[in-house]
Order: sequence, then C-alpha cells, then structure tokens
Amino acid sequence: MINLNSMESDKIELMNQYFDSRVDVYDEIHQQTGISWGKQIRDIVSKYISSQKCKILDLGCGTGLELEEILKKSPESEIVCIDLSKEMLKKLEIKYRDYNIKTINQNFFDVELGNDEYDYVISVMALHHFLEKEKLLLYKRIFYSLKANGLFINSDYIIDDSNYELERFEQLKKIQKEYPGQLFHFDIPFTEERERKVIVESGFSTIDKVYENKKTKILINKK
Ligand SMILES: C[S@@+](CC[C@H](N)C(=O)[O-])C[C@H]1O[C@@H](n2cnc3c(N)ncnc32)[C@H](O)[C@@H]1O
Repeated sequence: MINLNSMESDKIELMNQYFDSRVDVYDEIHQQTGISWGKQIRDIVSKYISSQKCKILDLGCGTGLELEEILKKSPESEIVCIDLSKEMLKKLEIKYRDYNIKTINQNFFDVELGNDEYDYVISVMALHHFLEKEKLLLYKRIFYSLKANGLFINSDYIIDDSNYELERFEQLKKIQKEYPGQLFHFDIPFTEERERKVIVESGFSTIDKVYENKKTKILINKK
C-alpha cells in the first residue's frame, strides 16, 4: 500500500491486493448497499447478449456478478473471464462451476485476446484505471478479438468533470513514474467525450449509449 502524501490522503493499493482483500464483502456491497444501480446495469448488459450459444470475453470479471443474468439467458455460452484477483476468480469458479467458463488470472493487457474469436467482449466497472494510450491499445485488441458485427459492451465509471479527469490523469502519471510496471487501484474515470474518442480511434463503427446516471454509463460499441 502506498501513501501519496502531498498528492492526496488516499492510501493506494495494488489492484490485485485491493480486490483480494475485499472478496468477502464484494458481492454484498455490489448487489445491495454500495452500488444501488448495479443490478440494473447487469440486467441491461445481459439484454444485449443473444440467447443463442455464443462466445464471450469478460474483462475484469471479478466474482462474475454480470454473468448471472447472461447465463440464465444463454447457459450454453462459452465464457472466458480474465481478472488479476485470484480470490475474486476463486469465488467465480465456485458459483459457476456447472457452466462452460474458463478463467485467466492475469493482467488483461498481457493476455493474447486473439482475432475474430468473440461474439461479445464485456466489461463492467473495470476499465476506469487506465490512461488514454493504454486504453487505446486495449480497445484495438478488443476490436480485433471480436467477430464481424461483434459488440464491445462497456459499463463503466464515466464523469462529466473534465478538470477532475485531467487532475486524476496527472496523479496517475506521477504514481506510474514512481512505481513503474505496478498496477494500482486508482480511479481515473474518463469524460464521455474522451471515452468515445478512444473507441472511434480503436476502429469501432457505432457507439450507442444505452444507460447513464451521474457516475456510470453503458456504451455498446459495434465492430
Ligand atoms: C470493480 S471490479 C468489477 C468486477 C465485476 N465486473 C463486477 O462488475 O462486479 C473490477 C475488477 O477488475 C479487475 N481488474 C482491474 N484491472 C485489471 C487488469 N488490468 N487485468 C485484469 N483484471 C483487472 C479487478 O481485479 C477487479 O476484480
């Protein structure tokens, strides 16, 4: 855990340690008290998944909360789940042991995502920790990993305040300079404008915003 001292009073933890140490309370917080709109988001995400057997990649799947509705709708689907937190993945594996799910305990920036592999790439509340150049790299790889007309469904923390956005970018850059190669749990939500710019630059042809509240938006990006 690091303390940013003059930058801010937050204690910042490594990404995997942050989630490993919260695994026992994670589902309860995200299903009930902490994020009241979480269930609504997951229901919306599942609406865009076909009920036919399909192949899905889940980036930052955590304990797999978003898979519950998807698997009710499409129980035969093959799902590849990537997450840095071993403990979150262990919980997911127990919950969904009867389904066709492969878990990968790695940084999704380091995993080969393939070409024309997936009908859907989904990500729920997992991509608001990366700088623009990092996201661009990842989104391009997501684009190639999708089949023609495949969808990248991203439900994430997105803000309106561009000053806050830039302030957080600068803070993360300082952290990265001080601790190169380490991945910390530090939120840098994008504005919708910047998020759309990166998606377009990655090659996606259409972007539909299908949900928004003050903190979260769901963008459906079509290859
Ligand atoms: C807020 S949780 C969301 C989990 C789940 N999608 C949900 O909505 O409940 C974010 C997850 O993304 C994972 N994560 C963040 N960055 C990652 C990375 N670079 N590679 C793999 N997993 C990552 C974290 O370990 C964590 O489990």
